Amino acid sequence: MIDIHTHVLPMIDDGPTTVQESLEMCRIAGNDGIKKIIATPHIQNGINDEYESNVLKKISMMNQLLKQEGVDIELFPGAEVYLNERLLNEEILKQSKLLTLNGGKKYLLLEFSFQWIPPETEKVIFELKTMGLTPILPHLERNITIQSNPGMLVRFVEMGAILQVTAQSIAGDFGTASRKCALWMLKKNLVHIIASDAHSPSRRPPLLSRAVRIVSDLLGKEVAGKMVSEHPKMILEGTPFIM
Ligand SMILES: [Fe+2]
Repeated sequence: MIDIHTHVLPMIDDGPTTVQESLEMCRIAGNDGIKKIIATPHIQNGINDEYESNVLKKISMMNQLLKQEGVDIELFPGAEVYLNERLLNEEILKQSKLLTLNGGKKYLLLEFSFQWIPPETEKVIFELKTMGLTPILPHLERNITIQSNPGMLVRFVEMGAILQVTAQSIAGDFGTASRKCALWMLKKNLVHIIASDAHSPSRRPPLLSRAVRIVSDLLGKEVAGKMVSEHPKMILEGTPFIM
């Protein structure tokens, strides 16, 4: 399996606070059957060369350590970009190594508030698609506005956005409303990817297999498998998204 949304790098955002904790998260992921992880630290206030080189250094340090420790996991760079008009500038997006997932300049993990859906969302999806970038919208099942009006998601998908549901939402760890919304999205074929959005080894660990079992019971093994393997692979490799 490939996990495309994680906060697994040490001392960079609200993820692990030590290298040991980061290593522990990778061990947990490996034991769960995950082989590749895109590290997606939160980006809110722009990105500069110093930040980019810091992330890339941490990725290579962790990959070396994982090899030394015999953990069969490979980390790749990325970002979780908070919706911000200034960041959504073609020049910035095309030049940056890190804003798009695995620097592929194809897929952008775009988060917004858990409370509401910004009125410019459709415009942003349209503009990104025009630039040749596909937005991946994470954990909308946890968004209060979507929970009371999930039909809004149909339009986002029709416009070409990819929807990512968080594994722990499916399992019910974020409460009934998130679980109910995630299951509704799954039944309506509005989920393309399951990712962990892991932040820690204990409370928010990088686990996917439990959610895969639930989705397999609901929609079949093949559909569930695509959400954690085939679809994430296209994103990691920056190839066109084929359902
Ligand atoms: Fe996240």
